[in-house]
Amino acid sequence: MIEGGYPLEGEVVINGAKNAAVAVIPAALMSEGESVIENLPLIEDVFAMDDILLKLGAKIEYDNHSLKIDARNLHSYIAPYESVKKIRASYYLIGALLTRFGKAEVAMPGGCNFGSRPIDQHIKGFRALGADVRIENGMIKAYADRLVGTKIYLDVVSVGATINLMLAAVKAKGITIIENAAKEPHVVDTANFLNSMGAKIKGAGTDVIRIEGVDRLYPTKYAIIPDQIEAGTYMIAACATKGHIVVKNVIPKHLESLTAKLVEMGAEVITYEDSIEVICKQKLRSSSIKTMPYPGFPTDLQPQMTVLLSLCSGTSIVTEGVWENRYQYVDELKKMGANIKVEGRVAVVEGVESLQGLRLLLWTFGQVLL
Ligand code: UD1
Repeated sequence: MIEGGYPLEGEVVINGAKNAAVAVIPAALMSEGESVIENLPLIEDVFAMDDILLKLGAKIEYDNHSLKIDARNLHSYIAPYESVKKIRASYYLIGALLTRFGKAEVAMPGGCNFGSRPIDQHIKGFRALGADVRIENGMIKAYADRLVGTKIYLDVVSVGATINLMLAAVKAKGITIIENAAKEPHVVDTANFLNSMGAKIKGAGTDVIRIEGVDRLYPTKYAIIPDQIEAGTYMIAACATKGHIVVKNVIPKHLESLTAKLVEMGAEVITYEDSIEVICKQKLRSSSIKTMPYPGFPTDLQPQMTVLLSLCSGTSIVTEGVWENRYQYVDELKKMGANIKVEGRVAVVEGVESLQGLRLLLWTFGQVLL
């Protein structure tokens, strides 16, 4: 139950990045040893990934936000639907298990519904690396004695495909080049994690990633980056409530597209080395955003931003450039008093004076945030 109408004031320490965590945890299965991942967010997606690891035979142990993963005695390369249905990022198990065992059988992923979420680019890449990939009874089955490095051009900029192909290529024979790669901070973080295991990945964070296959990966200890979406959500919430907050434990560079937009709209945003202060004392100006792959404005902040734009003066245009159907929350927001018209991937937002409290359906509310 949320009682509205109060400005957000104070400091908040941001957790580790969920989208890095769900890639790095399966990646830890690729070395036959005990790795430690630090700064993990203690959230459902991470716990869902932990459950899958346990079923594959890994041992796990938490010490606050650190997770020790003992992958020495994995006994299975199969992740059935029951295990993976809660988490879309379970597709990373294909790349990770293929590298560990030369075979992987993983059910088609579940996760948030933003419309059609194909994984054709992942499959195209695995096949280019020499894997025999079949889809049978809702399972993606991939087999390869040893993958062989090659050049892969992604037809769309995909975070998941970029990371999954890095996982598959780290022990492939020879050189793999991923072109038109995603540049998101969690792509770079996963590459850094893999390099700390002994992989040889260069260029993560640019659109060409070069991977030289190695024979062995070693256990590692690694702290993942802060969550840019969590930080951005608080920054937007501060503006929506005319508040004054400091988000701590962030990498300000990862939030540049949001910071620039909030400043353009009239908020004061002060960037320090690892924190950001947001001060918003008046109604902000309307604006336009278009979501794009990093370093563009992140789609995962689009719903939060649309809420803020609903409270600005004037007309704003939101264009969703990544997902085909990411406005399901709008109907519920309109019931709260927002004035938004959605036409395909474009939402026209007319600012209103305020929103009213309402009983919301939990699943719909979840989609505002995810
Ligand atoms: C990741 C994030 C998600 C975020 C999204 C875009 C994780 C676990 N999730 O999702 O929070 O919203 O990036 O920043 O990191 N596509 C294809 N074929 C493919 C793969 C993707 O056509 O094989 C398309 C998708 O339909 C979408 C676009 O490419 O339109 C981007 O998808 P992608 O970057 O792969 O998203 P995810 O990795 O699933």
